Amino acid sequence: MKKFSIFVINLFLISIFVKCQANINEKLTHECLKHYLKQRGENEEILDYVDSYFGSITDCESAVKSKLASIYANLRNRLQSDRVNRPFVECVLKDVEEDDDIGYEILVLKETAVEMISNWRFWKYFSKSSRLDELRDDAESIIKKTLLKCKGYRKFGDYFSLIQDLGALPNVTRSGEQEYCIRTVLKEKGCINSLYDFRDNPKNVRTSTLNCTIVYNEVVEDLYNSMYKSNEASNCILDIYKKENYADYVLTAELLSKISLSKSDKSKEKQNFINKMVDISYETKNC
Ligand SMILES: *[C@@H]1O[C@H](CO)[C@@H](O)[C@H](O)[C@H]1NC(C)=O
Ligand SMILES: *[C@@H]1O[C@H](CO)[C@@H](O)[C@H](O)[C@H]1NC(C)=O
Repeated sequence: MKKFSIFVINLFLISIFVKCQANINEKLTHECLKHYLKQRGENEEILDYVDSYFGSITDCESAVKSKLASIYANLRNRLQSDRVNRPFVECVLKDVEEDDDIGYEILVLKETAVEMISNWRFWKYFSKSSRLDELRDDAESIIKKTLLKCKGYRKFGDYFSLIQDLGALPNVTRSGEQEYCIRTVLKEKGCINSLYDFRDNPKNVRTSTLNCTIVYNEVVEDLYNSMYKSNEASNCILDIYKKENYADYVLTAELLSKISLSKSDKSKEKQNFINKMVDISYETKNC
């Protein structure tokens, strides 16, 4: 029994020692973190008891920056260790590090501050772990969303380029009537810049008896059906695509492949396409 309690005391001392060492290395104090968050308009209630910071502002900023650097390094390692995520590491880090609106930095700093609550603050300590879970979940969902976006940038960028190279959607040939109606309807919908130079009726088909609403809707249906058949999209995904008019954007990309554009117009259109597609596909994340 005596041996055992000495063992426990030793463990306790070792853990104190390890904690002190960590603090010495980081120089990041609870007071500084709270100050830093407050400067950014962030009040974390659970830290109410933490004293005001009276130290040097530059020291505090640099301690926070070095903490953030190590958090981002960990994130980088974690993403890099996953083969699927590895190609998107730079894109994800760029987004979360540089885009303040995303709010990742605030979440991980709050997490760091809440982690520092020690067990002698009994009532705070009591709610520490549930608050930590919340903050971690929020930070993780930012990473997931950013990953989806980064994957989307790649995927839809490639898709747009493929369509431009083929001058058509993959495995699709169009009748003159379809060509005419796609142009007419996309123009009506304002999907295509009317200043672009293209012929409305490239195959000179007779249009007097055409109902372009019907022709266009058939083209759209065919597109969705082929996506379903090739397992590219489930019913759940297709429902969202239909609601968001996914086909309009794809058919616009197809039309753009048939008209000659300046390099800068083309790259502007490509970016629009990617942004729109990434937004739409983000909505399908729960499918
Ligand atoms: C297009 O056709 C090729 C060969 O005919 C086939 O390998 C490919 O899977 C098809 N792609 C789509 C999207 O249907
Ligand atoms: C074209 O077809 C649609 C849908 O069937 C119909 O609502 C519309 O009135 C038709 N337009 C013309 C000009 O016939």
